Amino acid sequence: MPAEIINGKKISDDIKSELKAEIDKLKNQGIVPGLAAVLVGDNPASALYVKMKARACEKIGIYSEVIKRDNSSTHQQMVELVNELNQRQDIDGILVQSPLPDHIDEPGITFLIDPKKDVDGFHPVNQGLLLAGRPQFEPATPMGIVEILERSGHNPSGKNVVILGRGFLVGRPLSVMLSTKTKRTNATVTICHTGTPNISDFTKKADIIVAAMGKALFLKGDMIKPGAVIIDVGTNQIDDPGHPKGKRLVGDVDFDSVKDIAGAITPVPGGVGPMTIAAILKNTVKACKTRHDLI
Ligand code: GUN
Repeated sequence: MPAEIINGKKISDDIKSELKAEIDKLKNQGIVPGLAAVLVGDNPASALYVKMKARACEKIGIYSEVIKRDNSSTHQQMVELVNELNQRQDIDGILVQSPLPDHIDEPGITFLIDPKKDVDGFHPVNQGLLLAGRPQFEPATPMGIVEILERSGHNPSGKNVVILGRGFLVGRPLSVMLSTKTKRTNATVTICHTGTPNISDFTKKADIIVAAMGKALFLKGDMIKPGAVIIDVGTNQIDDPGHPKGKRLVGDVDFDSVKDIAGAITPVPGGVGPMTIAAILKNTVKACKTRHDLI
């Protein structure tokens, strides 16, 4: 039987509608949440992500400001920009799109963002609060994954989850979140990475697999258990002479190879990507409400 295709776009639209209702209530009190997105350089993928986040903000009534700087911006100029945004009363959330050019110390900039405005959840204070079981701002992509599992009816509680990839943006924080004892998490989590021999031995036993290692088409049908739920976090451009643009976007999962074996799968695009954006919006509204003592 073909797998259920989990519609991340539809689920994110539901979340955005819920947020819009909250934002309308805030507006009645004269409060408009604001998000500043900083984009440095000319990476086309980063420019696209920032544009999508800004458009999503505008659609639901969040004030959005995209601050573009060219590749020659210095570390000190970035420090000054973040300090200025930390002080601004009309800005509740700040995100600095990663990656930054090599000559800028990216963690150094992330660590300067006021943790109360850190809607990406990358600041060590927010990472520490997550580890301590007192999350304030969870990182957006893991947050979107927990939400998509819950809202699509695939509760990970009591299940074997295998996460492919131990990165700071997804794999590592997600392992903490999914293993935490809550009604919508509480899973047995295994992280596989480049040091894991025979990854298939783990993936074949998994009820849920999250592929977040950044290797195009890595997970194949013969590596999974029939009925497994597959969450694909990958966004990779591959050459495809048969495609009008000569290339196409694929995930870390070989969709065609797993689609008749898996129980459910998130597509790329239209799966985890829209959920990440919804999570950023949710964190921005939370930051705004917290700043105004409304939570
Ligand atoms: N680059 C890739 N993913 C992300 C993200 O979630 N936030 C930011 N700021 N940059 C990214």
